[in-house]
Amino acid sequence: MTDIITPSRATAKLIDGKAAAAAVDAAAAAGARQLEPRLGRAPCLAVVLVGEDPASQVYVRNKVRRTEAAGMRSVEHILPADISQAELLTVVRALNEDEGVDGILVQLPLPKGLDETEVVQTIRPDKDVDGLTAQSAGALVLGAPGMRPCTPSGSVFLAKQALGDLTGKSVVVIGRSILVGKPAALLFLAENCTVTLAHSRTQDLPAVCREADIIVAAVGRPNMVKGDWLKPGACVIDVGINRVEGENGKSRLVGDVDFEQAIETAGFVTPVPGGVGPMTIAMLLANTVAAAARRASLAVPGPVADVLPG
Ligand code: GUN
Repeated sequence: MTDIITPSRATAKLIDGKAAAAAVDAAAAAGARQLEPRLGRAPCLAVVLVGEDPASQVYVRNKVRRTEAAGMRSVEHILPADISQAELLTVVRALNEDEGVDGILVQLPLPKGLDETEVVQTIRPDKDVDGLTAQSAGALVLGAPGMRPCTPSGSVFLAKQALGDLTGKSVVVIGRSILVGKPAALLFLAENCTVTLAHSRTQDLPAVCREADIIVAAVGRPNMVKGDWLKPGACVIDVGINRVEGENGKSRLVGDVDFEQAIETAGFVTPVPGGVGPMTIAMLLANTVAAAARRASLAVPGPVADVLPG
């Protein structure tokens, strides 16, 4: 039998999130260098990790490494899973009061039994580099200055890198989480896009998606978005990071979009891994530099202002 070699029908360009994240990390590093002599210290990010979730441990390790690589100070609080709500709030309040700390991130999800909302809302808004407090969310709705959530900011950055000015583009965001879907919808709206926020109860999701110039998939369901859900030439921003069993018995990471199908129809696709994932920490570093500047009543350094969404 002769092997039939099927020529690849891939049309999509891959969006290189690692390269984009390296550029944003470099902007944060440049901003930190500009600020340091005026602050008399390097900008500082504090990360709080509760429990021993392996994925969270990896994220936190990467955050610490990249914070330090960008010339900033990193403070870590690793706390046991059985910490009480009151003890955890005490740690967050101490970081709020610490003048040497510019940004506070509490790694989510928190172990069962802890009230995530109360913990996040305890973070001082001027140190809320995750952009998750009510004040940050309100500022985003109002279009007022404030901290924007990191993964949605990274998604907008990548879409702009692929398409340039986003004005007038139709965007379908799938998933309405506080961490990604809702803020992503508002950030694309701020870029003058026409935004649909779709979710598990949306009727005929494939038809809704086929209208989109830009799809942002943030549902946490492996390979859910199929190739025939896409408008030809669409820009696909895949926020999903799902661990699945591979054919060889080893686990591997896949997104919320069926990558093999998507690259045959889309114009641009973010791979998983190596797409949106690395952008989250990059935007966190940029937010930390911005927080350090604003807390000292200084202008946000140009390189950082240039990479953050408006
Ligand atoms: N866990 C996964 N992503 C994030 C994030 O962006 N911020 C926080 N705090 N926790 C997360």
